[in-house]
Amino acid sequence: MPNIAVLTSGGDSPGMNAAVVSVARGAARLKMPLIGIKRGFNGLLGKGKTWEDDYIRLDLDTVLDIADLPGTYLRTARCTEFLEPAVRERAAALLKEMDVAGLVVIGGNGSFTGAMRLCELGIPCIGIPGTIDNDLAYTEMTLGFDTAINVCTDAVRAIRATSRSHDRPHVVEVMGRNCGDIALMTAASTGSEIVVVPEVKWTVDGIARELNRLIESGNTRATVVIAEGCWESMKPFDVYQFLKPYGKQVFEGEPMSANRFASVLKRKCGMVEVRSTVVGYTQRGAQPTSRDSTFAFEAGQMAMELLHRNISNEVIGIRNGKIFHMPIDKALKAHRPFNKTLYNQINGL
Ligand code: F6P
Repeated sequence: MPNIAVLTSGGDSPGMNAAVVSVARGAARLKMPLIGIKRGFNGLLGKGKTWEDDYIRLDLDTVLDIADLPGTYLRTARCTEFLEPAVRERAAALLKEMDVAGLVVIGGNGSFTGAMRLCELGIPCIGIPGTIDNDLAYTEMTLGFDTAINVCTDAVRAIRATSRSHDRPHVVEVMGRNCGDIALMTAASTGSEIVVVPEVKWTVDGIARELNRLIESGNTRATVVIAEGCWESMKPFDVYQFLKPYGKQVFEGEPMSANRFASVLKRKCGMVEVRSTVVGYTQRGAQPTSRDSTFAFEAGQMAMELLHRNISNEVIGIRNGKIFHMPIDKALKAHRPFNKTLYNQINGL
């Protein structure tokens, strides 16, 4: 009896376990045994001392235990070795040895490229978009994005309450790599006054000017939501040169951070305090929202249906609320324009 295999790869994202459970249900319906591969593509490098180091049989009992867990039960990792053709060939051989008739890869664009390469080597693969970043242009939503923006929204709401009590502006850094969607949605859903995203050029002075304008109009608790990728897209600003005369302990060449940015804004805007919070990994390790779990469920079902119909080299996405699939290579080339209208509305332009 041929097997189905499933792996999670890249940064974990809420809903990955739910997708695995859904794949397991599909496999059970087809009466095909399911193998979970541990730590993404690393489980295919043949490094484990025992079979159990790299794989686990996902029977119904195991799957029922993981259904509601946040994180990813299969573990995950990024696997740079998989960029080497020889490594991929060994992995494909291993999968064939295990009689794997189809592999479901849950991850982001790097993971999808890995899946596409395995397809070229004769392993049918289907991709499910699992990343909080929402940086896969072909789909309106990736698995974990909804949970991440809900975690950030809760955090910013709480921050805005205490900001109001103390008349303190606040800088909140959220994740998203080079994609500003988490920042944008968080800012929109909390009524935050300023959003900074990697898609739009920005300067420290520009934000300070805007914050000053808000303070002068009576808003002393404005929130600046900033995407983590913005420290790289920022027009260079010498934190050391600026903060040293204020007697702050800073080091030459020190990079900008949420904390430093708040410190700079405090001085540029003449406030008693500007505070900062980095929401961080709470965005990734949270219990999935029902929206993410539903998407995971539908995606897992579709993945199994496609494999059953001998369709592979495809990824699953959501458009206008409807689940769909398309070839991996096309999906990876897709380009989604940034939502500039929403950005301008938040920043009051
Ligand atoms: O891709 C998901 C993500 O959480 C990004 O938002 C973030 O930049 C990155 O992963 C952090 O990765 P790591 O877990 O390696 O620190």
